[in-house]
Amino acid sequence: MKIGFIGTGKIASSVVTGICNSKISFKKILVSPRNKSMAQNLKKKFSKVIIAKSNQEIVNLSDWVFLSITPSVGEKIIKDLKFKANQTVISFISTISLTQLKKAIKVKAKIIRAIPLPPISLKKGPVPICPPNKKVKDFFNKIGTTIEIKNEKSSINFWSTSGMMAPFYEFLNIMTNWLIKRGVKRNNAQKYITSLFLALSEDAVANSKKNLKYLVKESQTPKGLNEQGVKELSKAGFYKSLEKTLNSIHRRLNK
Ligand SMILES: NC(=O)c1ccc[n+]([C@@H]2O[C@H](COP(=O)([O-])OP(=O)(O)OC[C@H]3O[C@@H](n4cnc5c(N)ncnc54)[C@H](OP(=O)(O)O)[C@@H]3O)[C@@H](O)[C@H]2O)c1
Repeated sequence: MKIGFIGTGKIASSVVTGICNSKISFKKILVSPRNKSMAQNLKKKFSKVIIAKSNQEIVNLSDWVFLSITPSVGEKIIKDLKFKANQTVISFISTISLTQLKKAIKVKAKIIRAIPLPPISLKKGPVPICPPNKKVKDFFNKIGTTIEIKNEKSSINFWSTSGMMAPFYEFLNIMTNWLIKRGVKRNNAQKYITSLFLALSEDAVANSKKNLKYLVKESQTPKGLNEQGVKELSKAGFYKSLEKTLNSIHRRLNK
């Protein structure tokens, strides 16, 4: 199978890295010349990556075409590309709907929307796909955890929560800087904070069949530090504001 990427930015680089370090069987990965330095980096790192001459060349030579451009670029360029009916087109574009994609692609290709996130380069993380598709599901399961979504409207809910990656890292950053201000060396501070949150996340995954509220409860000792932490943050409106921000990201995606 030949795989093509139109748009070689952050998410395309992460997915290509994940694929090249996985057991996925493929012949070649074609990436677009833009972004030039990212495309060259990928070609240097992975022998099966080729830089195509144009977006149309990628479409002509690939069985699966990934659209990894921003919405404004997508609106401009997709309609002018000539796709084939036997192709699978997987769009990472946040705000172009399946109906709009079908209209721009014109031929009866299989069109799927997917939401991979940067940790896919480590072969980790959820990948919601819509509509469900067995081959695409199996593919992403080799570099992450596929979540099939039947209804496109519901996929927007997943998109909204993916807007919490940078806020999460900022949370870790603030705690690390807090330790540093108290005289802890950056190395130790970052090691402590990142391994603490890795352990908590792994524990949360291990317990993900239970309602997460039990983890919130189980990690508090009556009158202990965690009880104080969750109570004070709730009182300060921290969690309410998290929900408010999710709502506002959701509104933006629904426009
Ligand atoms: N980043 C994420 O975590 C993430 C996750 C899931 C989905 N997405 C979605 O994936 C898409 C890409 O996001 P990104 O973060 O990877 O953005 P990005 O880093 O800005 O990548 C977009 C790439 O498109 C290239 N480009 C611009 N015009 C082009 C053209 N005419 N033909 C081909 N390539 C062109 C840009 O090259 P130049 O730099 O040369 O302009 C850039 O390399 C977005 O729609 C986003 O919503 C992102």
